[in-house]
Amino acid sequence: MIRNFFFIILTIFFLTPNLFGEEKAVLKKQEWDFQGIFGRYDKPTLQRGLQIYQEVCSACHGMKRLRFRELKDLGFTQEQIKQYAETFEITDGPNDLGEMFTRPGEPSDAFVSPYKNKEEAKAAFGGAYPLDLSLLTKSMKNGPDYIYSLLTGYEDEPPKGFELPEGLYYNPYHDGNVIGMPPPLYDEAIEYIDGTNASLHQLSYDIVNFLNWTAEPELEKRKSLGIKVILFLLVLTALLYVTMKEIWSRIKK
Ligand code: HEC
Repeated sequence: MIRNFFFIILTIFFLTPNLFGEEKAVLKKQEWDFQGIFGRYDKPTLQRGLQIYQEVCSACHGMKRLRFRELKDLGFTQEQIKQYAETFEITDGPNDLGEMFTRPGEPSDAFVSPYKNKEEAKAAFGGAYPLDLSLLTKSMKNGPDYIYSLLTGYEDEPPKGFELPEGLYYNPYHDGNVIGMPPPLYDEAIEYIDGTNASLHQLSYDIVNFLNWTAEPELEKRKSLGIKVILFLLVLTALLYVTMKEIWSRIKK
């Protein structure tokens, strides 16, 4: 009797971790164009995402795996990419004298990180670290929905009784419900070049699309190859079936 009671309590404990552990907000699931078997990227969305990264996120976050020349996937011409790359200052070297020097960016260069190294970034934010954004949507669990929820999930006021430590912000999607990143996006945070209404939802949606593209630029090719392979297998199966019928019909006679 007592043993049964003990098991019931134990089961309840394991089945409802939220009751005992920290309460985590439910992710705001979005319909992403890039998910599913016909997944694809929308170029204007990616271009807007690049604009947000450039005007907002790049102040704190690097994107070191992305090379300027890869922006051709977003519909930019070689000339536009060259001009864009030239607006960046790249540290190169060492030269013949063993010294580092700076030069304008070239299409083959990668995006420049705002901090020289992790330590410098940590020092700037009192220990919190603005990660490199290149692979984030893939490396985080439910990356796209999580980042969307995080960006749209800031609350001005923490709930009653919640002690908000100095210099942190209340966000129920982050561990411990606090985060060291000040809310980077809000309605009209930037003015879109293409005139799209820059609501918080739109901004967050566009930047997540862009981040997913940087993490998985080959997604469209991979998915279209997958569809071709499936079609090929279907045709092959049909042919084999017809051939088999043909052979058996002769044997039976
Ligand atoms: C003012 C600097 C700053 C800006 C601007 C900024 N971030 Fe951050 N970001 C941070 C810091 C600092 C952290 C680490 C926070 C922590 O660990 O508490 C962070 C963390 C993150 C995380 C990781 C959250 C996690 O669960 O660990 C994501 C995702 C993120 N930022 C995305 C963005 C995006 C997208 C933009 C642009 C729209 C942006 N950030 C703009 C400073 C910034």
